[in-house]
Amino acid sequence: MDFSLAQPPKEPLRHVLSSSQFDRAFLDYLCQLTNTVRRFDKSREGLAYLGSLLSHKRAMLYFTQPSTRTFLSFHSACHILGITASEIRDSATSSERKGESVEDSLRTFSSYVDLIIMRSPIAGLCERTARLLDATPRPVPIVNAGSGPDEHPTQALLDIYTLTRSLRMRGGIDGKTICMVGDLRRGRTVRSLARLLANYKDVRIIFSSPPAFRIAEDLRADLAATGIAFEETDAFLTAIAEADAIYMTRIQDEYDIGPEDGAKDYSNYHLKAEHLGALKSDAVIMHPLPRRDELDPAIDHDPRAKYWRQERNGMWVRAALLTMLFGIDDRIQLPEL
Ligand code: NCD
Repeated sequence: MDFSLAQPPKEPLRHVLSSSQFDRAFLDYLCQLTNTVRRFDKSREGLAYLGSLLSHKRAMLYFTQPSTRTFLSFHSACHILGITASEIRDSATSSERKGESVEDSLRTFSSYVDLIIMRSPIAGLCERTARLLDATPRPVPIVNAGSGPDEHPTQALLDIYTLTRSLRMRGGIDGKTICMVGDLRRGRTVRSLARLLANYKDVRIIFSSPPAFRIAEDLRADLAATGIAFEETDAFLTAIAEADAIYMTRIQDEYDIGPEDGAKDYSNYHLKAEHLGALKSDAVIMHPLPRRDELDPAIDHDPRAKYWRQERNGMWVRAALLTMLFGIDDRIQLPEL
């Protein structure tokens, strides 16, 4: 895809709270910016340049839910740009343990840092924090790195980047069929990505899941309002055979465990090596990871498997996003080194 004409958004990026805040122009610009960050990342001079850009800034990584990729890729993105990162990964090690409210904890971080990147089991906490801090003398930007079963906007941005790159020889995401599989009800990556896909032309989403894990009513209504074509099916094999991209997800049984979780066999919704022959020869296989049994490791060596690249892309997309949050993305617009 040629993004050379992508223009920076007119409005500065203030917070990253929900994927609903992004439009196509933003997505094209972010993809272009990320490509440039990657180019800089390839040379010692480029890395030294990136590392000088935000060495006067500090970030807080407040992650009170487990995380490997999102935490490490944000941490690495900070590192790439020279940002000093502090972290809390367990509220039991902070004054929340002494009864301090999470709001007061977050306000405290804003006294010491210039940016808060947060993952929490509480849906809506990022929005609340952003509003709270906006009303204080230190309104630092908030980045939602996963808000319970609700949203995971930066994962969706890196998924869009991965899709765009993987489909670049075929005209990009426009006109493609994307099949999303697994726990579509509580999977925040699915919820955020489906909303972003609605920005593309003639995209069709096939949601394939066990009946108990169909998309939630709010997402169904939001998608219907955008006019994007989508369907829900339990016919997994038919769905994956039609797809240009398959987005596998795991069962999110850390939330409201009900009779449907654990007790049932969902192997009908697992992508196995034996399915590869039925997929399009240029299908893109993605997964936000971590995986369990739904994605057979025997697929890892198939050229259509893009999930390891997807996780590495997360670091560059997040670095690009941080330059936008600090309003220095124009300094990434340099010609190739
Ligand atoms: C996802 C998450 O935390 O929502 N992982 C991630 O950020 N890469 C998906 C998951 O945990 O299933």
